Amino acid sequence: MMSTTTTTESAWGLAAYILLLPAAIAAITCLLLRALRASHLQGKNKSPPPGGIGSWCRGFVGAETLSFLADNSSGRGFYHFVHTRALRYGACFRTTLFARTHVFLLSSTARAAASGLLAADPPHFAKRYVRTVADLLGEHSLLCTSHDTHRRMRRAVAGLFASASTAAFVETFDRLLTARLLLSTTGCKDRVVVLNVALDVTFRAICEMLIGAQEDARKLERLQSDVMDVTQAMLAVPIRLPGTRFYRGLQARKRIMDALRQEISMRRQNGLKLDRRDDFLQTLLLKSHLDSPEEALTDEQILDNILTLIIAGQVTTATAITWMVKYLGDNTDLQEKLRSVQLDLASRHHDSTLTLQHLNTMDYAYKTVKESLRMATIVSWFPRVALKDCQVAGFHIKKDWIVNVDARSIHYDPNIYENPTLFDPSRFNDDMKPYSFLVFGAGSRTCLGMNLAKIMMLIFLHRLVTNFRWEMADHDTSLEKWAMFPRLKNGCPIHLTPIHKDMH
Ligand code: HEM
Repeated sequence: MMSTTTTTESAWGLAAYILLLPAAIAAITCLLLRALRASHLQGKNKSPPPGGIGSWCRGFVGAETLSFLADNSSGRGFYHFVHTRALRYGACFRTTLFARTHVFLLSSTARAAASGLLAADPPHFAKRYVRTVADLLGEHSLLCTSHDTHRRMRRAVAGLFASASTAAFVETFDRLLTARLLLSTTGCKDRVVVLNVALDVTFRAICEMLIGAQEDARKLERLQSDVMDVTQAMLAVPIRLPGTRFYRGLQARKRIMDALRQEISMRRQNGLKLDRRDDFLQTLLLKSHLDSPEEALTDEQILDNILTLIIAGQVTTATAITWMVKYLGDNTDLQEKLRSVQLDLASRHHDSTLTLQHLNTMDYAYKTVKESLRMATIVSWFPRVALKDCQVAGFHIKKDWIVNVDARSIHYDPNIYENPTLFDPSRFNDDMKPYSFLVFGAGSRTCLGMNLAKIMMLIFLHRLVTNFRWEMADHDTSLEKWAMFPRLKNGCPIHLTPIHKDMH
């Protein structure tokens, strides 16, 4: 009897053991996971994001840089580097580029972190630009300063983008573009490389706004070619030897600074207050005479920021325009739809010079501009350097690491944009989720020229679509090597067919 009871008890014990053990393990695992999650949330996690280099492969330091450079010099473009690592490690990963640790945050992780990293002026982070950019644009450039210095500089420059100068800019851009389109299409030239036209017109319009209309055409051409040399040197290896791209950029900067200094001294000799010009340079010079020393900018600060505005505005906008024309060249039905809307608007304002009021009525064209900006994502990610050890997205970030908020992954996230690779302006009929459209950045470093950029894109679109039909003259989609912003290697050549408006 006794032995039967013992046998039964041990059988029950074994059964309970078999049944309860997994439950106990599950409960402990659950508690551990909860504790781990809680420590993540409380910012106590000490583990860095996955990726990077372990001690076992220190010999391969530079392997990631080489891989980044290889993507940069291939037709796939540098974003391929980020994309492949995101597939391997997930939405937050770590890598080493040019001997610095970079952390990339993608999609929903990037959106969640964006408010802390971009929106305010976070004290533990500073905007990070590569040294070559500071050498080429100058130490006072808005793009290279941080915190208090940046705030003061931004206040001084932002004042220039008032509504009167924006309205004048609409007229300037429309005039320059109309003349340039006429030039490009006279003499049976039906093939136009969009990037060349866009670079030319954006440069002239931005310069006219900054330093006034230049009578001397050769001087302007020299300035344009110098600005291009500076732009091309920004991603170059910083070797200061004659013949290198970086050296050419530095020499070009010197010539630009000399030309601007001459312009300033000429304006001062003629008497600033007597001069009736109202370009940005004039406004800044007048302020430097009138304002208190804390608010006024020195000549060197003015010079660095005039160059910064040209560089920040020209290539970005020209690249965005080029992508927009390509997307509509690939989607001729949308091109036709837009044409009919814009021709209707054009006839209502008698095809006159465009004004801000006209642009404000271009609802569908504006959505086309936004969709082009989303798909092109000219600035792929926003780098911020950690000023001390901290936590981001539940991972430990060390001082001096660079955290990159990846905008491209947000713009192509199917949870935010259905069929993200489809060009569809009507998706902007709906309201946007916060931090889902980061084309111009966010927070204290938001693009200062975003309204000008939208204006240039709208006018370009309106003039092109109401005067021509177009189709792609070359379907090669490979990207230009070593470009600061992803853009087509062929510059987007198109065939243009003039529209006879009365027959439309
Ligand atoms: C489609 C065209 C453009 C795009 C996509 C673009 C994009 C951006 C982005 C994303 C930033 C912020 C970067 C960051 O937070 O790390 C930025 C900053 C800036 N942009 Fe633009 N931009 C464009 C056109 C322009 C134009 C036309 C100008 C002026 C003429 C301009 C002037 C600036 C300046 C001065 C900054 C620095 C602002 C600061 O740090 O306070 N941009 N831009």
